[in-house]
Amino acid sequence: MQLSRRELLKAGIAAGASIFLPSAGLLAQAVPLIQRKIPSTGESLPIIGLGTARRYEAITTEAERAPLRETLRRFKALGGRVIDSSPTYGVAERVVGDLVAELKIRDSLFIATKVSTRGREAGLEQLEQSFKRLQMQKIDLIAVHNLRDTQIQLGTLREWKQAGRIRYLGITTSSEKQYREFGQTMKAEALDFIQVDYALDNREADKRILPLAADRGMAVMINLPFGRGRLFNAVQGQKLPQWASDFDCKTWAQFFLKYIVSHPAVTCAVPGMAKAEYVADNLEAARGRLPDLAMRRRMESFIDGL
Ligand SMILES: NC(=O)c1ccc[n+]([C@@H]2O[C@H](COP(=O)([O-])OP(=O)(O)OC[C@H]3O[C@@H](n4cnc5c(N)ncnc54)[C@H](OP(=O)(O)O)[C@@H]3O)[C@@H](O)[C@H]2O)c1
Repeated sequence: MQLSRRELLKAGIAAGASIFLPSAGLLAQAVPLIQRKIPSTGESLPIIGLGTARRYEAITTEAERAPLRETLRRFKALGGRVIDSSPTYGVAERVVGDLVAELKIRDSLFIATKVSTRGREAGLEQLEQSFKRLQMQKIDLIAVHNLRDTQIQLGTLREWKQAGRIRYLGITTSSEKQYREFGQTMKAEALDFIQVDYALDNREADKRILPLAADRGMAVMINLPFGRGRLFNAVQGQKLPQWASDFDCKTWAQFFLKYIVSHPAVTCAVPGMAKAEYVADNLEAARGRLPDLAMRRRMESFIDGL
């Protein structure tokens, strides 16, 4: 059961607790993040994870690495688990591997990466490289990136899953142009996960991909939940509507994320975050109430009307 800050405070006072008002940080740790189940196993994951594209790609100095260390430290402290990366994100896998080892937080995390090349040999080489860069014995999820050489790479992923090197496999896209082939692959293959782009102002996946994922019993990870920051630009200078408080939403980031994770087919979203303050903000979207269907329609009208 999820309790809002107000409910927790009320409960504390009703129970006769002496004036103990937990700080927002303490409270955040006390209230677990909302979880969703991976259909193929029933394992639960928090509905907000962390993406490592772009901001983790070109890290060379300790000054650049330090804020990412703080970001991952905060992410783990606030109950975050899912981290999404790719061998094509520059040095991102290496940075995640180093920081996770340094912080000793591997066991609590769910690490997802991708295979993104053509040919069986090249795929095998890239997968071995991901294990080395991430410094992990087992990777939780590997997905074929943007349908690159899907059949060949899925064949290898199946073997690696069988051998116990990975726990889940899937496919990703972030382009509507690929939705037709993506949907065909979802119909033809047994996949644990799909990853697709979906945002309050980019809702095509809701029509063409998410219902299929629900039918096929596939977990759904959402990429580009802010449209790479496009949504923040769209609302620049605008105040959050007063009715956002009806679903415990205090910031624009939470508004955009709560819209996504309130879709019943969505398992988790992986917003890109390279700042600790973003982590605190975005993980709050996995607490409290989520918008219902009527509220989701209101959010769509709001964004369409800008
Ligand atoms: N085909 C694929 O498989 C595929 C494709 C694309 C992405 N992905 C995955 O999806 C993840 C997310 O995509 P993305 O990072 O490109 O875009 P995104 O999540 O839509 O946007 C991330 C950007 O939003 C801003 N932001 C994040 N939290 C914020 C907050 N609380 N307040 C204000 N601004 C905030 C940051 O901008 P600033 O950094 O500029 O401050 C951040 O870089 C990627 O990291 C990657 O893991 C996968």
